[in-house]
Amino acid sequence: MADGREAIKSTDRVDGTATPKVRFEGVSKEFASRQGAKTRTVRALDDVSLSIREGEVVTLTGMSGCGKTTLLRVLMGLESATSGTVYVNGTPIDGPGKDRAMVFQHAELFPWRSALANVEFGLELRGIRSAERHEIAGRYLRLVGLDESQHLRPYELSGGMRQRVGMARALAIEPDVLLMDEPFGALDAQTRETLQSELLRIHAGDNRTILFVTHDLDEAVLLADRVVMMAPNPGRIHAIVDVDLPRPRPDAVELRASAEFGRIRAHLWRLLQEANSGADASQGVGDRR
Ligand SMILES: Nc1ncnc2c1ncn2[C@@H]1O[C@H](COP(=O)(O)OP(=O)(O)O)[C@@H](O)[C@H]1O
Ligand SMILES: [Mg+2]
Repeated sequence: MADGREAIKSTDRVDGTATPKVRFEGVSKEFASRQGAKTRTVRALDDVSLSIREGEVVTLTGMSGCGKTTLLRVLMGLESATSGTVYVNGTPIDGPGKDRAMVFQHAELFPWRSALANVEFGLELRGIRSAERHEIAGRYLRLVGLDESQHLRPYELSGGMRQRVGMARALAIEPDVLLMDEPFGALDAQTRETLQSELLRIHAGDNRTILFVTHDLDEAVLLADRVVMMAPNPGRIHAIVDVDLPRPRPDAVELRASAEFGRIRAHLWRLLQEANSGADASQGVGDRR
């Protein structure tokens, strides 16, 4: 590896012949946006193709407006693609389903419900009986470290605790794919690092497939098996970078100090600048797309 860059590969492969957990195939999404009397078309996603294997953590990053949230909303079934298809477990999706759950930047909890009752909500919708609901919700609150606070209401919880409840609520459904849209973006640095470690720990335990949006490059590297760098206007994949850091991962402080982490981080920084200047990654540092 002459310049150290060749080790940073760009792939969209899925091991062997296994069906990918998630597959975007030529997905485009257009919005009609009204400006006074005129209607303009915004191409939020342009021909996005990406496969995610079971147990993989893929982080999506890129500047604001490059389609990250739209990609999650299309996978969630909250928006339909203008063209292209999204598959989960090999089956095209048709609206929301219990195989997918989302964690948002602000947990949007019911203010009159306790932490436990908030986690139970999705289980109620699925018709699970009260005793079982309690048991499952309690288990997931324990998993996110909130067993002591299960009877508190959202106004009694800190921002970090509310995000933990949001994570427990999504995990309690036991989705095949967990979608996270800047879930730690509004938290202070210390809380954010704690929750990053928690997420790494939870993932080491259940090996869930996760698609995680962040504009923080450190967070993108820390959590991911692969980082997808998106470019704006139209929203598209600019490059995909493998993160060959071992799992289970040590804490963020130790990992950030490693040479490999720094190298991937620097590579992503260059890609981010390239993506925003409209340059073509395929001309640059050897990424395929
Ligand atoms: N419901 C909508 N109506 C019109 N335009 C939208 C809508 N949702 C997103 N967009 C536009 O699509 C583009 C991508 O937005 P978004 O997916 O929110 O980007 P990101 O999450 O990366 O910041 C932006 O130009 C945004 O203004
Ligand atoms: Mg967004």
